[in-house]
Amino acid sequence: MNFSSKLFNWYQKNKRELPWRETKDPYKIWISEVILQQTRVKQGIPYYIKFLNEYPSLNKLSLASEEEILLLWQGLGYYRRAIYLLESAKKIVKTNNGNFPNTFDDILKIKGVGDYTASAISSICFGEKEVVVDGNVFRFMSRLLGLKRDIKLKSNLLFFKNTLKLLIEDLNPGDFNQALMEFGALQCIPNKPPCQSCIFKSECKAYLMKDVKSYPQKKVKIQKKQRHLNYIVMLSNKKLIFKKRVESDIWKNLYEFPLVEGKCSELNQIVNKKEFIDLNNKLTSPPKFLKLVNVKHLLSHQTLNIKFWVFTSEGSFNNLRSFKEILSLPKPIVISDFIDKHLKS
Ligand code: ADE
Repeated sequence: MNFSSKLFNWYQKNKRELPWRETKDPYKIWISEVILQQTRVKQGIPYYIKFLNEYPSLNKLSLASEEEILLLWQGLGYYRRAIYLLESAKKIVKTNNGNFPNTFDDILKIKGVGDYTASAISSICFGEKEVVVDGNVFRFMSRLLGLKRDIKLKSNLLFFKNTLKLLIEDLNPGDFNQALMEFGALQCIPNKPPCQSCIFKSECKAYLMKDVKSYPQKKVKIQKKQRHLNYIVMLSNKKLIFKKRVESDIWKNLYEFPLVEGKCSELNQIVNKKEFIDLNNKLTSPPKFLKLVNVKHLLSHQTLNIKFWVFTSEGSFNNLRSFKEILSLPKPIVISDFIDKHLKS
């Protein structure tokens, strides 16, 4: 049996039932693939279901507000994905009568869609012979072909893509891609793959060399950037100061407390900062320090060392928001968790 027939047989027996596998509607596949760009299948499923319940069509999505979309996306991270989905939906409705583009080249023009996502959508929905090479496929191919190549290099991605293109034959390209991804996700897993039970063990170069663990080439671990965020949490009569973040480094357009960035370990360092003094000047009575809560939050490229400095004040000031109001605003999950755990009771 050739490679693709073996893979197909395996897929038919082992594939997971996933909600986006029940449709070829390009709008729905687009949503699923954007969610899966930086998210594991298991974590992505509830978001996909929630998203399509709320916005069952491109038209419906195009009428949403950015805040609504971000709130729905809360906890999934990489919030730019959600902003691009909304922007693109509006654009497709305006310029293409609401018809989702139906070729790889046109799908690639959608903001937030790269080669990988355009290949997935065009193959699954329109049967184009475009191959998806995600991290799972890259690992599987590296081992099968015994090639140590750097996934970050576009030339290597193209090499695997072209190699696989030759193997699609006349099969359904969408299923071929999903079978490849599924094989990488379930069988050819990163650590201790069950090679004894693998259907490709007689041809897998890495297995035959008894050196599976050396494939794919390990990425050089980059040192994560350490950031120190100090949030000034000013609590007054169960209301808080909460504002939209405008910086585009992380969490753009989500909401947060007033922020001081930089290492601060003592209370007097915080109260001497301009941000605190500005707040203090607006208060009608002096704030009292209540507590400090430390949280470490890991992002893919940076570690956030967060300190929530909680103060109470009897006085009032402008821009205070109730917990109910805050509940309806999109915010980083670390802030949402902090409010639930430390402020609400
Ligand atoms: N990862 C990205 N797209 C996928 C899909 N369609 N099925 C399984 N895993 C995926």
